[in-house]
Amino acid sequence: MTDVVRVEELYKTYDGGVTALDGVTAGFAAGSFTAVMGPSGSGKSTLLQCAAGLDRPTGGRVFLDGHELTATKDTAMTKFRRGRVGFVFQDYNLLPSLTVLQNVVLPLRLAGRRADLAAARAALAQLDLADRTDELPERLSGGQRQRAAVARALVTRPAVIFADEPTGALDLGSAREVLTLLREVVHQHGRTVVMVTHDPVAAAYADSVLFLADGRLAGSLSAPTADAVAERLAHLGDRARAAA
Ligand SMILES: Nc1ncnc2c1ncn2[C@@H]1O[C@H](COP(=O)(O)OP(=O)(O)OP(=O)(O)O)[C@@H](O)[C@H]1O
Ligand SMILES: [Mg+2]
Repeated sequence: MTDVVRVEELYKTYDGGVTALDGVTAGFAAGSFTAVMGPSGSGKSTLLQCAAGLDRPTGGRVFLDGHELTATKDTAMTKFRRGRVGFVFQDYNLLPSLTVLQNVVLPLRLAGRRADLAAARAALAQLDLADRTDELPERLSGGQRQRAAVARALVTRPAVIFADEPTGALDLGSAREVLTLLREVVHQHGRTVVMVTHDPVAAAYADSVLFLADGRLAGSLSAPTADAVAERLAHLGDRARAAA
């Protein structure tokens, strides 16, 4: 299987000296759904930001859809990213002054592509947002906002969708809807999803889990169950405490 995203020996040290990534090598296969887990501060968000081309690693290489992002200049990287990467954030990041539909087609406009409003409306209808397309985001529930954010992440048909705690702000029911949606995106539409989560139940929706601790890879689990994930997380905590 080909990797849509591959990071090799990734290091990230922030100004001030915090080492957030300490030599991470990982591949994400086309058509896979991977959860990334680990204690707070273990480098999960940093890994996603670097892999998505939203931030630059201090060292190492990032390959996205066959291109080496780390060898690409900023403007070219932005352009490349706009067409190839979708990102879903914990706090939705919808623009408050744009309607749901305008938010969803924005990535197409930014990528200089034709905004097919009919297709965007159809996509929103599939997510049960047919009667919300012309509302401002503030009039939607958290779950509706996150479904709109997923629609926005999908609209360019990206090679990969990164989601950083996409259910972190949602109630159980809305979280389940968003997780089911992400799983469908992978298993029915063949997309690739990499999702950071703290929740073992959410991680169990993925095909595999990658564990991070102290900026390093700390194992993986395929066909995860919530119990198995929780068990592993508890041991990661043990190890971090033992090292402290
Ligand atoms: N912009 C930044 N400037 C300086 N340090 C940062 C910055 N962003 C993150 N860090 C530090 O890098 C480390 C990893 O942060 P990161 O946000 O990747 O962790 P995380 O695993 O996503 O944590 P959480 O589960 O709390 O979201 C932490 O020690 C954090 O304080
Ligand atoms: Mg984070």
